[in-house]
Amino acid sequence: MIPVTGLPVDRRDGRLKVTGRAKYAAEFAIDNVAHAVLVQSTIASGTITGFDLAAAKAVPGVLAILSPDNAPRLPHAPSPDQNAAGPNVVAIPLLQDNKVYYNGQHIAVVVADTLERAQYAASLVKASYQEGEAAVRMADALAEAYPPKHFRNGSRPPDSRRGDPEAAWDAAPIRLDLTYTTPVENHNPMEPHATIALWDGDRLTVYSATQGIDASRHTLAVLFGLKPEQIRVICPFVGGGFGCKGVTWPHVTLAAMAAREVGRPVKLVLTRAQMYTSNGYRPRTIQHLKVAASPDGRLMAMRHDGLSEMSVRAIGEFAEPVGLVTEMLYACPNVAVTHRLVPLNMPLPTFMRAPGEASGSFALESAIDELAAAAKLDPIAVRLLNYAETDPHEDKPFSSKSLRQCYAAGAAAFGWPDRSPEPGSMRDGDALVGWGMASATYPMNRSKASARVVFDPDGGVVVQAATQDLGTGTYTVMAQLAADALRMPLYRVRFELGDSRFPPAPVSGGSQTAASVGPAVLAAIDAAKQKLFALALADNRSPLAGAAANDLALEDGFIRMRDAPHRRVSLGGLLARNRLERFEATGSAAPGDEKQHYSMHSFGAQFVEVRIDPVLREIRVSRVVGAFAPGRILNAKTARSQAIGGIVFGIGMALLEATETDPNIGRVTNPNVAEYLMPVNADVPDIETIFVEEQDRLVNPVGVKGLGELPIVGVAAAIANAVWHATGVRVRDLPIRLDKILT
Ligand code: MOS
Repeated sequence: MIPVTGLPVDRRDGRLKVTGRAKYAAEFAIDNVAHAVLVQSTIASGTITGFDLAAAKAVPGVLAILSPDNAPRLPHAPSPDQNAAGPNVVAIPLLQDNKVYYNGQHIAVVVADTLERAQYAASLVKASYQEGEAAVRMADALAEAYPPKHFRNGSRPPDSRRGDPEAAWDAAPIRLDLTYTTPVENHNPMEPHATIALWDGDRLTVYSATQGIDASRHTLAVLFGLKPEQIRVICPFVGGGFGCKGVTWPHVTLAAMAAREVGRPVKLVLTRAQMYTSNGYRPRTIQHLKVAASPDGRLMAMRHDGLSEMSVRAIGEFAEPVGLVTEMLYACPNVAVTHRLVPLNMPLPTFMRAPGEASGSFALESAIDELAAAAKLDPIAVRLLNYAETDPHEDKPFSSKSLRQCYAAGAAAFGWPDRSPEPGSMRDGDALVGWGMASATYPMNRSKASARVVFDPDGGVVVQAATQDLGTGTYTVMAQLAADALRMPLYRVRFELGDSRFPPAPVSGGSQTAASVGPAVLAAIDAAKQKLFALALADNRSPLAGAAANDLALEDGFIRMRDAPHRRVSLGGLLARNRLERFEATGSAAPGDEKQHYSMHSFGAQFVEVRIDPVLREIRVSRVVGAFAPGRILNAKTARSQAIGGIVFGIGMALLEATETDPNIGRVTNPNVAEYLMPVNADVPDIETIFVEEQDRLVNPVGVKGLGELPIVGVAAAIANAVWHATGVRVRDLPIRLDKILT
């Protein structure tokens, strides 16, 4: 049987999605459902002194208006430490008190029998406030910067250093002292957040748009004081997440609270505008980077001091870990990294596609380009000169690293050797042409996961796990892996996900789904085979009688003797003889101590061409080549889609995206997809992707390193470097819009 893993198999949910048959959270038809609409604060700081609800209550069909005055008190009072300590519990605001910490905070929920009535009533809710002092501009609050208390969930301190960066800086002939800044960005998945909540006694079912159904179950259990078994979370399809569906945000809990109050199922959908203050964002950063080198471009010292914007401390903590790439990407003996948070009256930030790596590599990979110019080296040459053969931060070998091959393959496909080094020296007609490149890297993440395999009497197999498919291809690649492990044709294998009744799996964040769930699928199939072999051997009239389990193999629905394939029993026959209408096995898999011995990262190289109008300075990305080494490729087609998606996201980050806030009242002024600019087709050229496949079974039994986040990393720097090459103007502040390169 020819293996299917790796082949460009069409995504299994593709047809369902393009024909509208894929059901997203808000689309489940639930009898008697009522509609909830959130009311959000219009001030950035203060106290709610009262509500005028007379007009809202008079709207026909209104069932309830929940506010801090009457909302049920949750058994476990939300605390900021709860928000900060685990990434999965975000408990504030839940209408538990009358404090306002940012503009756009949930302050009330209106429930009515129709959506329109709920919306109208919500528009009539009037809150009065005692306004407090609000800090909404990062530049004004820098003196308040503080070190995060729970950096990386407390797994490491926020600062690190090796060698003596200060002494090396003092002695270095080339010294670059640079500041890079990145704006607030919002995720903007096509599917907005949505939850339908139903109570049956003390059992809660939620249909909810989430990157983590099992984590949502646990969060709701904590907040309502229930056992996880009393909660079921269903989410068969996710219309994009990018990190904003990684934690269970308060609107999910509020939907469940409202459903219990009105004694009916309740549906709550965030509006696009509410998506800008309700589910995190990539925080603004100010990154101070010092790079010191010898005259020939060898790194002597680096210092990366990262400031990222935060909410007020009372509601939690999130730090954008911008310096982690600087710790490990280059061989440099003297490195210091710090992370600090600047508290503002803004919502809590969160993970957004390659949190830290995307924003931090904009600074680092721009600075390395500036070093190349200072040392008169080609940008690839300076990177090869400082290539880290082993992880310089953890002082461990890499389980595998094919960055060199990515540079080479990307450069060849792009035609990089034809680049003329001087800025402004390349033209096509009138257009200024710039070529830039940057490195990409992302850690291999993996968590414990489990899966179940169910054999139907008709010969089909279903594999199940409580995981998610964010549009990444989980449905498809897990079926491919399972088909090969079962040695069955792909069409007879189905993978099911999106129901918390399936065996638990981790949040689909950190690009960890394939590396976590894949090994669990293999473990479940292994367990099933052992049980099936034992069953076959227990029958002394079977053609396999007298064999040992080690002699047997499962193939195409038969258990056979390896050495005598004509001695075989069919699975269907075996199950029938044993009167088993259904046969199943579960397995789980977890990382061991391999990360204590090896550093595990994926790598890549981004190559970009920009064309800039010499007068108007309009910037167009005209070519991109991305070369990536993410371990094993499970599906050539979905992998390519992931890579293209990441690069498009990077084009948005480089040239377009920024969430703007009114500096006086702290309100987002462009909470819509018309004024929050994202790349459209005309902004995106044909993108060439190259995969340098690696055989690395040290990372996990499947050999994947994850591909959701790697492809955005380095794109913003490669574009900034190309803009500099075209114009001689170095832009260190994202997004790079034409006003920043007017000369
Ligand atoms: Mo990703 S930002 O870890 O969902």
